[in-house]
Amino acid sequence: MSKVKVVNLVKKFDKTVAVDGISFDVRDGEFIILLGPSGCGKTTTLRCIAGLETPDEGEIYIDDRLVNDLPPKDRDIAMVFQSYALYPHMTVYGNLAFPLKMRKLPKDEIDKKVREVAKLLRIEELLDRKPRQLSGGQQQRVALGRALVRTPKVFLMDEPLSNLDAKLRVYMRAELKKLQRDLKITTIYVTHDQAEAMAMADRIAVMNKGKILQYSEPHHVYEKPANLFVAGFIGSPPMNFIKASIVEKDSRIILDAGFFQYELERELGEIVKREASGSEVVIGFRPEHMILSKERGANSVFQADVYVIEPMGSNIIVDLKAGEYLLKAVTSPAIEIPPPGQKVWVGFPLEKLHVFDAKTEKTLI
Ligand SMILES: Nc1ncnc2c1ncn2[C@@H]1O[C@H](COP(=O)(O)OP(=O)(O)OP(=O)(O)O)[C@@H](O)[C@H]1O
Ligand SMILES: [Mg+2]
Repeated sequence: MSKVKVVNLVKKFDKTVAVDGISFDVRDGEFIILLGPSGCGKTTTLRCIAGLETPDEGEIYIDDRLVNDLPPKDRDIAMVFQSYALYPHMTVYGNLAFPLKMRKLPKDEIDKKVREVAKLLRIEELLDRKPRQLSGGQQQRVALGRALVRTPKVFLMDEPLSNLDAKLRVYMRAELKKLQRDLKITTIYVTHDQAEAMAMADRIAVMNKGKILQYSEPHHVYEKPANLFVAGFIGSPPMNFIKASIVEKDSRIILDAGFFQYELERELGEIVKREASGSEVVIGFRPEHMILSKERGANSVFQADVYVIEPMGSNIIVDLKAGEYLLKAVTSPAIEIPPPGQKVWVGFPLEKLHVFDAKTEKTLI
């Protein structure tokens, strides 16, 4: 168990700024996830923490100790990579024992530890097999086991589930979360899969272009995204966005999207007016918060054409055309949706409405 603190970390490769001054802390036993699109600097951040890259600026602390100048082997960190890189010629037992042999532990102690970890990961029956005789999920568990045998202070995992098929990935993410909870090893996990991050993390650091845009609990990142990028990155299908202008009419504040006008409550309107850098904003609402109805209802805001209906089993995704936009709504199969080509009323509860500054992309409400 350990805490980690990263302060103003910068890492450049020639002219590429891979990590652009990020800071975050990880509490003792916490499971945090670095989430962001390809190339945003996730792996580079992990490699700096592991000591495999030298930062250009910034400090890395493990348990309040500055480790910048400490070689990787002395940081007491275990890292699991996307490719498990098991030793193909060794058995599972050999793979698990390897890190301990390197540390010259006595044979009986190695044996005890290997069996303990194998039991924990439920791979006891596989100890005599070679990696190629294992399924993807089993190989994954062996790779985890190899990182675990040393009981490191900190666990770093770089997209460890990305080689698995969708079903196994969903299964393994629960297993991994349970394992982390049980062992209470401070963990920094990297993924570009927002669903994985939402499902597993105590806190998510949403990254883009080498920066952390928001660092918070999953529900908070989902409900109160700090800006347009986070709002669009978290959630599936993603949040719908519509451009609008702030218009004042008789001291009322209205968001004008062209094909509809939306009057804001006085207080919210004042906030938007005060905080916005100009008059251009972006309205956001999530597919799962949209209310569709054949007849105009209390929440109705605009009318749209039903474009496609995608039955998903437990819910329905309705693709809608409104103005120049293609919007996605998620509804219950119990709700009657007019067939494609017909019109439907669209609404959303005020408390689920997001408004962003079009220029700065910051959240206004
Ligand atoms: N060794 C390197 N030499 C030069 N550029 C690098 C090197 N490693 C990473 N980069 C660049 O730094 C940026 C960040 O890369 P990084 O691998 O950290 O991204 P990532 O978030 O892990 O992406 P992915 O999700 O694709 O794995 C990218 O622009 C990448 O091309
Ligand atoms: Mg990476």
